[in-house]
Amino acid sequence: MFYFFLGNTPDLSLLELRKVYPGEFTFVTKDIASYDAELDLNSLPHLGGTMKVAQSLEVVSPKKVISTLVELISADSQKNIALTDYASLDLGRAVFHELKDKVERSIRFVSMETGPHELVMLSHQHVLELNLIPSGSLLEGKSQNIIIAKTVWIYDAEDWVSRDRSKPYRDIKRGMLPPKLARIITNLATGGKSGLTLADPFCGTGTVLMEAMMVGCNVLGGDTNPEAITGAKSNLEWILSTPGLAPRTYALKLGDATHFDEFFPSCDCIATEPYMGPLLDERNPSSLDKIKNIAKGLDKLYRGAFKSFYKSLPVGGRVVMTIPSFRVYGKEISTISIDTLVTLGYNYISSVPYSKPGAAVIRNITILEKK
Ligand SMILES: C[S@@+](CC[C@H](N)C(=O)[O-])C[C@H]1O[C@@H](n2cnc3c(N)ncnc32)[C@H](O)[C@@H]1O
Repeated sequence: MFYFFLGNTPDLSLLELRKVYPGEFTFVTKDIASYDAELDLNSLPHLGGTMKVAQSLEVVSPKKVISTLVELISADSQKNIALTDYASLDLGRAVFHELKDKVERSIRFVSMETGPHELVMLSHQHVLELNLIPSGSLLEGKSQNIIIAKTVWIYDAEDWVSRDRSKPYRDIKRGMLPPKLARIITNLATGGKSGLTLADPFCGTGTVLMEAMMVGCNVLGGDTNPEAITGAKSNLEWILSTPGLAPRTYALKLGDATHFDEFFPSCDCIATEPYMGPLLDERNPSSLDKIKNIAKGLDKLYRGAFKSFYKSLPVGGRVVMTIPSFRVYGKEISTISIDTLVTLGYNYISSVPYSKPGAAVIRNITILEKK
């Protein structure tokens, strides 16, 4: 059994896992999901929403945790050991010291909410990390056995940050789509298959297209702004120079998403964060009427775009789009509705909201398939 430690939007991370892997995932806590099937560890760096994966070694009663840990640690040659308690066992100092005395090795007790910095440290120091995970649902408060699982993969936090910071072209006006979210959207569109042609008709600086190239797609991008097209071109050329990346192709066109099919008549799937309206000043909110008008304009733009995408996609081809809605004055104002998308010829698959606490704009990450 494998345990996936999910990122800050667990529902979205789980959706990504369910689209990429064939086996069953089940929530064990609110941000850990179990997976009971074969797993190719080399596929894990492709994920955008998982921070760490551990493999189960033993399932024991709480009383046997210490003795089993002693056995497992003694049998492993790694000098540094870390222990992370996700089971709320309250391994008090006394118990922790007892374990330390018994194994005579350096053990670090990592807090339950292992932050990205600790994860980076662990992955660099070749530490054997053992995780204590509840076997029943902690959420239901049942008494349970404890799973002892060994960390087998940790995401490369530095790689994500450096790709975002070092790319040649950045533009805050064109929105700051987090690269991990761009990767998740890509994986939702491709289902983890490489070799597909993925398009972003609102490509901006090319965040989605860069992540898609990293996982083996050939890419197509369109945007109405010439500066975005030039910027995306330099970013994609830069990605192509990544050591070890197999050759990929790309094409970029200046054009409106509502005419996408005229300049790109075919693609396998579409993944995009579209134009979401003018940047809203959250300290000085626009009037409700103004926001309703913005939403109406976006609805029209998206209808036109979805009609055009339909002509370029194969039957069953997916569109994954961050469809915005606005949370203002205690109301949620939506843009295009699922009913409209269904009448435009798409099957609705699912949608997960993604937003920062208190933010006015919610990105509804929506998966559709052409009927
Ligand atoms: C939020 S940004 C896109 C982010 C992009 N998907 C990425 O991965 O970085 C929105 C982009 O849509 C472009 N845009 C606005 N209206 C458009 C339209 N009608 N057709 C195509 N692009 C449009 C803007 O120029 C802007 O670059």
